[in-house]
Amino acid sequence: MAKVTGLEGVIAAETDISLVDGENGYLVYRGHWAKDLAISKSFEEVCHLLWYGRLPNGEELAALQSKLVEQRELPAQMRQLMDVLPLSLPMMSVLQTIIASIDYAWPPTIEQAISLTAKLPVLIAYRYRQQTGRAFVEPDAALAHAANYLYMLTGQRPEEAHSKALTAYLILGMEHGMNASTFAGRVVLSTQSDMASAVSGAIGAMKGPLHGGAPSEVTAMLEDIGTKANAEPWLRAKLEQGERLMGFGHRVYKTRDPRAEALRLVTSGMTGQDPWFDLAIHVEETAIRLLEEYKPGRRLYTNVEFFAASIMRAIQLPSDLFTPTFTAARVVGWTAHLLEQASINRIFRPQSLYTGAQPESQ
Ligand code: ACO
Repeated sequence: MAKVTGLEGVIAAETDISLVDGENGYLVYRGHWAKDLAISKSFEEVCHLLWYGRLPNGEELAALQSKLVEQRELPAQMRQLMDVLPLSLPMMSVLQTIIASIDYAWPPTIEQAISLTAKLPVLIAYRYRQQTGRAFVEPDAALAHAANYLYMLTGQRPEEAHSKALTAYLILGMEHGMNASTFAGRVVLSTQSDMASAVSGAIGAMKGPLHGGAPSEVTAMLEDIGTKANAEPWLRAKLEQGERLMGFGHRVYKTRDPRAEALRLVTSGMTGQDPWFDLAIHVEETAIRLLEEYKPGRRLYTNVEFFAASIMRAIQLPSDLFTPTFTAARVVGWTAHLLEQASINRIFRPQSLYTGAQPESQ
């Protein structure tokens, strides 16, 4: 009998939230191509789509925007807790602890989803500034979600191109079907535990390197390549040595990863606005040509990590903020799933197959 592990291929729930189709390279959020949303919609519009099931009209968008801005305010209790946590505690553990301390009642609500989504970037920025010995920068109500995050991290108003790129990254990171953290959150909520506990559980799952990962190997590659002129000799040398190029190939997507494709479009639309975007586009084109030469027929394309890394590098996000930033995106999908889970709730209680020793007969 085949080993029973990992729930691969098991359908754990029906969902209206997203479709992930690796064979065809499809990623759909509630009937809309995620790549189109990333290019043409705001973070707040896509939040509305995932939570309420449809894109907002002007009035609905304005209402959601102002609620998200209002909810950026950190309660005194949260700040106090943050101030007593050891500075050496990793950011993901800090987020998990602070979110777990929120006292929400069952059932989960959209208001709670809004509050968690609004607060996560503020918590990350608060902690980051603390860890780097700088004063907290209060959120700026005039700035949209992604721009405000960058502003709170750096204390400076971000460039338009950087806010746009980060927005696209956040939209594409929001949701990806029944991934490990989403499933973990749904399992916690299915016990009729509250939304904050479920999100805290999801953050715990996201923390592991097999899930939250980090595009830092791609960042290192881009930094090492440094200039467009160095791209071809650098990449060729790696392939000659039989090494893999970071940010290329995917276990599931055997065609273009739709998230990489969307981030490529956003990035290529901004070449000339940041040297890292220019370098990333050039490295991608060169690498695809060389991979076809060295690995013909293997269908190797850029994966999401490649463009995520070039965006992170362009906005100068330190590598230990990559996974927390991914978390600040995925919280939107988690909370949409938690609302959906509550609407059809039945406790998750799978079986296990006992393979241990049998007792001696009585
Ligand atoms: N660079 C060069 N060659 C590659 C690469 C690459 N990035 N990826 C695969 N290949 C080659 C392999 O050497 C192999 O060649 P061979 O037929 O001569 O032996 C062939 O393509 C198939 O390789 P597999 O390992 O079977 O491909 P698989 O689909 O299992 O691997 C993986 C997927 C692990 C992502 C791989 O492409 C890889 O190592 N990429 C680089 C690391 C990376 O970018 N990781 C981030 C993944 S994205 C994400 O996790 C969200």
